[in-house]
Amino acid sequence: MSTFIRFFSLLGLSCIIIQGCQSPNAESNTSASNTQQQVDEPSVDILAPSDSKGIGKFTDVKVGNTIDKEMATAGESVFQMKCVSCHSSGTERLIGPGLKGITKIRTAEWIMNMTYNSEEMTNKDPVAKALKKEYKLPMMISGGITDEECRQVLEFLRKTDLQQN
Ligand code: HEC
Repeated sequence: MSTFIRFFSLLGLSCIIIQGCQSPNAESNTSASNTQQQVDEPSVDILAPSDSKGIGKFTDVKVGNTIDKEMATAGESVFQMKCVSCHSSGTERLIGPGLKGITKIRTAEWIMNMTYNSEEMTNKDPVAKALKKEYKLPMMISGGITDEECRQVLEFLRKTDLQQN
């Protein structure tokens, strides 16, 4: 009888010890990481095609069925001057993502809004926000680019995507 009592009181004691030592920590870890996930990881797949036009001044961009070669050539120069420090036009990841295929998964408006004002985009647009999180620092800083240059770069990226696919 006394062995039983001792056995059960030991069992009870170890339960208390185990609970005291492990459960609260384990629980708080789990709930902390769950909360973290909800806050930090909205379910945005940055590689998924999207119809979003993003946020910014470009709401209706007309693109032709074929490439405007002159515009694309001008866009290539803009790209060389203002983008290559952080982006390749291939798949290589530099400071920012490689832009190959970008015109297949984003709208013309989204790309131009991101090019023109990445700050507003990375603050408000869900996909751009997720990109900022993925690429961390240094984030893209737009500025000193005209509407026309944004359109030219878009044409260059369209041309690149047609050639490489
Ligand atoms: C200082 C580095 C830097 C420069 C310069 C830069 N970018 Fe970016 N870009 C980034 C980073 C980093 C991201 C990812 C989002 C973020 O963290 O801001 C990005 C994201 C993008 C995206 C979204 C890519 C995607 O996967 O959807 C586009 C489009 C883009 N940049 C275009 C351009 C163009 C066009 C230029 C030149 C006019 C340019 N960027 C100049 C760093 C740069």
